[in-house]
Amino acid sequence: LPDPDVAALTGGDVDDLLPRPGKESDKYRRGVLGVLAGSDLYTGAAVLAVGGALRAGAGMVRYAGPAEPVAQVRAAWPEAVITLLDRPSIKDVGRVQAWVLGPGLGTGDWAHELAAQVLGTGLPVLVDADGLTVVARDRSLLRRAAPTLITPHAGELARLIRAERADIEAARLQHARAAAAELGVTVLLKGSTTVVAEEPRPVRVNPTGTSWLATGGTGDVLSGVAGALLAQGLGAYDAGSCAAYLHGLAGRLAADGAPLAAADVATALPAAFRAVAAGG
Ligand code: APR
Ligand code: MG
Repeated sequence: LPDPDVAALTGGDVDDLLPRPGKESDKYRRGVLGVLAGSDLYTGAAVLAVGGALRAGAGMVRYAGPAEPVAQVRAAWPEAVITLLDRPSIKDVGRVQAWVLGPGLGTGDWAHELAAQVLGTGLPVLVDADGLTVVARDRSLLRRAAPTLITPHAGELARLIRAERADIEAARLQHARAAAAELGVTVLLKGSTTVVAEEPRPVRVNPTGTSWLATGGTGDVLSGVAGALLAQGLGAYDAGSCAAYLHGLAGRLAADGAPLAAADVATALPAAFRAVAAGG
């Protein structure tokens, strides 16, 4: 694969790109995010994705799912507006400006039906985790006009583009770019260094992060952050880049040389926003 153009991402870039509320702002105009995540078995992913979104400036987060994650999200985040789903339908969720699809969602008919519906809308969609398993089986779901941001780790990307994980790890920028071209989406490839690729733009390399982020659930928080930025009107490339930067910085602040739990990353997000605004 050819070497792509590369752009280092800086705190100054992120500071310039981040939306901030003004006098004219209200919760609807700041951006409403819909989150389709979690299942009766995997409830934590829903809680973490909603938390990441609420701490990343969404005007409102609408969560929809089955009974168990609904109970957990309601308990953890009274701020979220909740729809209990007894069938896989987005009809009753209400108006949103962007969707997050996938963390803990499961990979059966329920998840496939929700994926087909949200990817059938004209709205920006972030696809992560189980959502990536669903679209890997049926890549035609990704053929759409609206922006799509996928957030795989190397294993998830390997499944999507029918490649070997080791080959992706050995040439991450090249594979991220090739996948973006092949699938017609924006690719945020996670790992010890996260990169964001969208044709024909240079591949952005994220400078923040910490190895302490290598713990279950931090990816779910990232989904919420990037989804919230999509809902606030950033394009997929900028939303992905800013989310990676802020998430990595929040991880550093939360860890400070010691272990973190994924929820701590969400808690540290406001401090990361402050640090970016202060030029850090
Ligand atoms: N250095 C820096 N950052 C890292 C490192 C590392 N060595 N390893 C991982 N990260 C970061 C990634 O960049 C990403 O932001 O941590 C986050 C991990 O995200 P995921 O790989 O999506 O992991 P996550 O989904 O949170 O947890 C594992 O995968 O198999 C599923 O359901 C299982 O919940 C489990 C999940
Ligand atoms: Mg994940």
